[in-house]
Amino acid sequence: MAEAIQQLILNTLDKNGSIKDTRTLTLPGQSELASTHDSQIIILGALNSLQSRDMISYTTQETISHVLTPEGGSIALNGSHEARVWAALPAQGEGTPVTPKELEKKVGSETAKIGQGRAFKNKWIGKQDAGLVKLAPTINDVTQHELQEVDSTGTLKSGEKALAELRKRKLIVQRKGQWFTVEKGKNFSTSTAKPETDLTVDMLTSGAWKTSTFKKYNFEAEGIPTNGGAFHPLMKVREEIRNIFLEMGFAEMPTSSFVESGFWCFDSLFVPQQHPAREVQDTFYLSDPSRSLPPPEDYYKRVAKVHEFGGYGSTGYRAPWSDKESRKLLLRTHTTASSASMLYKLAARCRGEKDETDEDELATHSGATKRNGKEEKDTANDGFRPAKLFSVDRVFRNETMDATHLAEFHQVEGVVADKDLTLADLIGFMRVFFKKMGLENLRFKPAYNPYTEPSLEIFAFHPELKKWVEIGNSGMFRPEMLEPMGFPKDVHVHGWGIGLERPTMIRYGITNIRSLVGHKVSIEGVEKSPAVRF
Ligand code: PHE
Repeated sequence: MAEAIQQLILNTLDKNGSIKDTRTLTLPGQSELASTHDSQIIILGALNSLQSRDMISYTTQETISHVLTPEGGSIALNGSHEARVWAALPAQGEGTPVTPKELEKKVGSETAKIGQGRAFKNKWIGKQDAGLVKLAPTINDVTQHELQEVDSTGTLKSGEKALAELRKRKLIVQRKGQWFTVEKGKNFSTSTAKPETDLTVDMLTSGAWKTSTFKKYNFEAEGIPTNGGAFHPLMKVREEIRNIFLEMGFAEMPTSSFVESGFWCFDSLFVPQQHPAREVQDTFYLSDPSRSLPPPEDYYKRVAKVHEFGGYGSTGYRAPWSDKESRKLLLRTHTTASSASMLYKLAARCRGEKDETDEDELATHSGATKRNGKEEKDTANDGFRPAKLFSVDRVFRNETMDATHLAEFHQVEGVVADKDLTLADLIGFMRVFFKKMGLENLRFKPAYNPYTEPSLEIFAFHPELKKWVEIGNSGMFRPEMLEPMGFPKDVHVHGWGIGLERPTMIRYGITNIRSLVGHKVSIEGVEKSPAVRF
């Protein structure tokens, strides 16, 4: 069809030189084509295509025409209400007059109602006895004729006044129409052969490019719609874990600093400066800049002292303190670095300093300052307020990569600070947390962390894998870590950490971590991965 119309336009131009009005175009076998509204839209498509090749140029002409409403259409076909009323009645003196009730039965109640008034006004009908009869022997149903005229021409010869009357009676509505005048363009020809869209090597070598016509670039084209973004499976599991923490009243810690100092990543956590985890084989160090800004001075001194000489009931490590080691910059090896700096901030009021934690960040939406729905009072007047904090973010380790290890991965971490917390509280928190992740059967195994005592490895019986899997690590932070921060002795802080990758792999049935993260990931797989609900 499109081809045929293009050909028709070109042939007409060839014959007549120009087309003054596209409504005069008639396709063979489609006599009505050009005059209707829809056909001008089809013609416009053909004109645009030809104009883009400079074969023609066209100008648009606007018209206002009218079309019939459904009611108008019915009148054009069956006559006006008044004419139908008139036709239903006997001529005067020639039959029994029709009562209004009978009329309703004959022509329908609506036509009877509307038609009677107008028929009386036109003196087409009159009353006789208790009924109605024809007065006029013949009638001219102007409304019907006008509507028929509008239907076939889009307008009325008699002019705008009559059109306005029909519009008022809601029998016709205006419709904007278009038609076009067409001239030959500079590439005019009667051949609709498709122009080239690309310059090819073949065309260059054969010289065909010299005589080819090329399609113009359409810089207005909208292009192929892009796919919507999709969350990576890790992010879906992260969201689910985040919801679990939020349900339990935890607030999310800021964890945007991937680069930390040895001080915050290790020293503040009472990890000895000689600990193997701090060696280059295990930790990525920065060469430029290589030295951190100084940590808070007094706190730094207390940390250095507890390492070298002990205190708070501890003997310390009795090894010389190295400022150089402490100030090294590195990619954080665990999110506990962020927990440490958050805890240090939380202890500000205990140190008698101004509390710089953002209320929103730490407490308000976490319910951390509320317990059992009541505002937590600082009854001991030591500045302490309890907190429940969590984070889910990326950490980095200088590992040899294999099917289950990457050099960067995600940790999930929960921290609870309150007075007189016990190991049972920690286990209780973890039971609630892991139950929400669908793991009810837990076992805890004594373990060692430099910063927690006691420390517990967490094992869960995996209902799908049907075996015990190690899922995380936990413990009660040591006084050597908490007291230099300024926390009173009776403040106990729990922590537990789990990886994000392992539960995600189990969830999605992925066995090689490289098909979850890295360049081997299938984008399609990411797009199609379902949401996670534990
Ligand atoms: N930081 C520990 C790890 O990397 C997890 C942990 C967090 C342990 C808090 C105890 C307390 O495995």
